[in-house]
Amino acid sequence: MHLCRFCSAPTTQIVDFGQMPIANNFTVSSSRDSFRFQLVASFCESCFLFQLESQPEPSLMFHSDYPFFTGLSKKMADHFKQMLNVSIEQLGKSKKDIFVVEIGSNDGTMLSNLVDTGTRHLGIDPSYNVVQIAKQKGVTSIVEFFNTTSAGKIVDEFGKADLILAANVICHLPDLNDFAKAISILLENDGRFVFEEPYVGDVLSKTSYDQFYDEHVYLFSCTSVQKIFERYNLELIDAVHQDTHGGSMRYTIAPKGSGLISKSAEQLLNLESFNGFKDKKAYKDFGANCVTKRDELRNLLKNLKNQGSTIGGYAATSKSTTVLNYCDIGPETISFICDSTPQKQGKLTPGKYIPVISPEEMREKAPDFLVLFAWNHEQEVFEKERNYLRGRTRWIKFVPQVEIVDFDD
Ligand code: TMP
Ligand code: ZN
Repeated sequence: MHLCRFCSAPTTQIVDFGQMPIANNFTVSSSRDSFRFQLVASFCESCFLFQLESQPEPSLMFHSDYPFFTGLSKKMADHFKQMLNVSIEQLGKSKKDIFVVEIGSNDGTMLSNLVDTGTRHLGIDPSYNVVQIAKQKGVTSIVEFFNTTSAGKIVDEFGKADLILAANVICHLPDLNDFAKAISILLENDGRFVFEEPYVGDVLSKTSYDQFYDEHVYLFSCTSVQKIFERYNLELIDAVHQDTHGGSMRYTIAPKGSGLISKSAEQLLNLESFNGFKDKKAYKDFGANCVTKRDELRNLLKNLKNQGSTIGGYAATSKSTTVLNYCDIGPETISFICDSTPQKQGKLTPGKYIPVISPEEMREKAPDFLVLFAWNHEQEVFEKERNYLRGRTRWIKFVPQVEIVDFDD
């Protein structure tokens, strides 16, 4: 029996994705990547948190070789700039008087917007390599995991924060209780904590099960977020849906009584109740859909391969590790995956050992089909590849439907 990672109540198992490697552990030889864990999603009917039953040690995932750099995507960089500016505006204080902390600040993409403004800021991230890049941009940053201990140290050294920001970070954390408590330690009495995470509503409606991987331990709803923070005298006061990462939610948390709950947050909470997000049935339905989608993708690829087609993959995303390992698809089916990240090129994908090549090499090969692993960036990808691949390559999508599409569709 698995007990909820937040409230310790027994959870209901929803789907077992099987043995998984670390999603970003690209290897040079197939022998190095031996670590596996069981990827099982469970739902808690007490606090409504959709979660993974087990997670590898954080040090296995976030280390000096962490191959993810926020700044590589111009679209995401623009998005984070908007998130920062809107959040500061909503504080209603002068930029000169506030202290802004970003948790999981990576290469400093978001905070770099504050470097020339005189706004006091601090980025905190456990991966040494990305923090060095942030520092080169002039972003004040420290290499640490964010928890009650480091939150206390920040308060001692820099004071309390008027604004705490986090994007796609909270779903990584092994201990939500310690995390929420750390926020209550660091946040000013009238401060705000704004964070964004992939939204469970999108995952359920699109069957985007690939949002679960070692680093994504939770899929939040407004309902579960409200439950988590209220235990620490904090409350959800705003929630706004975002298109990023295949559907995310931007939550605003405030010390209890320091702000009014927005219409948008109220509506979303009501909608979640209406759609059964507090009931395991919605999650059980999702579990059944995962099995159907897995079989559909596997069968489609097998049939195409049997007909002699060449198949590649587009973008060696973290999400693709879940898809490839859950569906048991390897280099016998997908000959290569192209990815724009130089650190991934020349390596093999975790667990299935599919070679990663550059987009340029992929364009030369122009396979008959490309599986769109970066399905959340479809528009950007199609715009970029249209001139190279139109009339030569067709696309295979698996979210929200398993289907073959062409550029003109
Ligand atoms: P993530 O989904 O794990 O955040 O990683 C995105 C990966 O997708 C990253 O390795 C870069 C790659 N990518 C491309 O190679 N080309 C693209 O056009 C896009 C949008 C992403
Ligand atoms: Zn719970």
